[in-house]
Amino acid sequence: MPTIRLNTEIPGPASRALTERRTHAVPRGVYASTPIFIRHAGGAVLEDVDGNRFIDLAGGIGTINVGHRNPRVLGAVRSQLDAFLHLCFSVTGYESYVDLAEKLNRLTPGRFAKKTLLVNSGAEAVENAIKIARAHTGRPAVLCVEDAFHGRTMLGMSLTSKTHPYKHGFGPFISDVYRIPYGLPASSRISERVPMTHEDVEQLLDHTFRRVVAAESVAALIIEPVLGEGGFVVPPAGFLSALADICRRHGIVFIADEVQTGFGRTGELFACTHFGIEPDLILTAKSLGGGLPLAGVTGRAEIMDAPIPGGIGGTFGGNPASCAAALAVIEEFADGSLLARARSLGEHFQRRGYSWQRQHPFIGDVRGLGAMQAIEFIDRDGAPWAAPAKKLAHHCLRNGVLVLTAGTYDNVVRLLMPLVIADEQFNEALQVIENNLNAVAAELGEMAVIGD
Ligand SMILES: Cc1ncc(COP(=O)(O)O)c(C=O)c1O
Repeated sequence: MPTIRLNTEIPGPASRALTERRTHAVPRGVYASTPIFIRHAGGAVLEDVDGNRFIDLAGGIGTINVGHRNPRVLGAVRSQLDAFLHLCFSVTGYESYVDLAEKLNRLTPGRFAKKTLLVNSGAEAVENAIKIARAHTGRPAVLCVEDAFHGRTMLGMSLTSKTHPYKHGFGPFISDVYRIPYGLPASSRISERVPMTHEDVEQLLDHTFRRVVAAESVAALIIEPVLGEGGFVVPPAGFLSALADICRRHGIVFIADEVQTGFGRTGELFACTHFGIEPDLILTAKSLGGGLPLAGVTGRAEIMDAPIPGGIGGTFGGNPASCAAALAVIEEFADGSLLARARSLGEHFQRRGYSWQRQHPFIGDVRGLGAMQAIEFIDRDGAPWAAPAKKLAHHCLRNGVLVLTAGTYDNVVRLLMPLVIADEQFNEALQVIENNLNAVAAELGEMAVIGD
């Protein structure tokens, strides 16, 4: 029995009517990747307000690793609702906050004393990590990378690379933010898996410290272990570990932004584990809360304790329902089967993806780590090509599969499916992608464009 069920054209009449209302009530800046409205979700399946059923390979942008309405998460949240809803951890304590902090301190990479601050969103975790690093070092500057995404607050946006739509019209940005390449220059990344030596990375930073900002002015370097919005770029072997070493030598706080890569997405609880690095601070959000808003900054106790009492916190940070959900998420990952599932989903996708790449010249790269996988599209000159990515996402939705685009050049289609997706559902979704790759190739005259 197929999972996908389409009763109407997509979007159906009920979704179209809601879109009409949305257009009048919600500003256009709140982008809608799809024109559908959902009335029910479970596992990896979404049902829209017209009764159409979709397979979800977007997972609320990587937020639903344990599946929509995960039963353990629902149970934990329900029990919490019966006890109390909001207290504010800065007013009266509750055990689940401390419990979650202890668990994150234990589960994040690094066998050193750690502490955890809980906040509401990925961007807020980024903001707090930089505040903490500045308080610890007494230094102003922050290093970040090309193609990074760190959120939509003023500092998150200043650290983010892509200008449109994220930064357009919102300047001036925060000063003392400096950008280095993410491993190799973007132009030489496609299909190349060239490792970087320690010396390569030394040279890169030496250039930065001599010509851009002095090392002793830098409080922190913040980096995604795999670029998320930037196009699911896996860094060259050796890059992250060399960066971490150099930061340590200069007293620069090394911050891993695991908002998108974290909580099992890549087949490890944290992507840093793949690269053997132990960040000073690690940021979690998205799938940590199993669908509820929650984020964390976890790191070396002496760094986390730098802000004075009252210097960090917030009204809702680590709210009781979100803490209960996160504790249930951690239990879901405890036996390792979801992590194994993430790895096998990734391998399965890559096998299909490589066969598509052999068939379609406009697929420049198939890449990712664990269940964080993507297809990159290029034109005949090897330059980023956005049209196929946009068309593929559009056609897949019309055929019952939700995928998202990504990349500084919008030329990447990325998969962030719930890890609980059944094999039959995943195969069904991949078949829809395959069929629509063929349709997009025909529509764009791929062979004529690329092969002439
Ligand atoms: C790596 C990374 N950092 C930070 C953020 C911002 O998270 P939020 O949208 O929860 O503020 C995101 C969101 O996509 C992200 O992918």
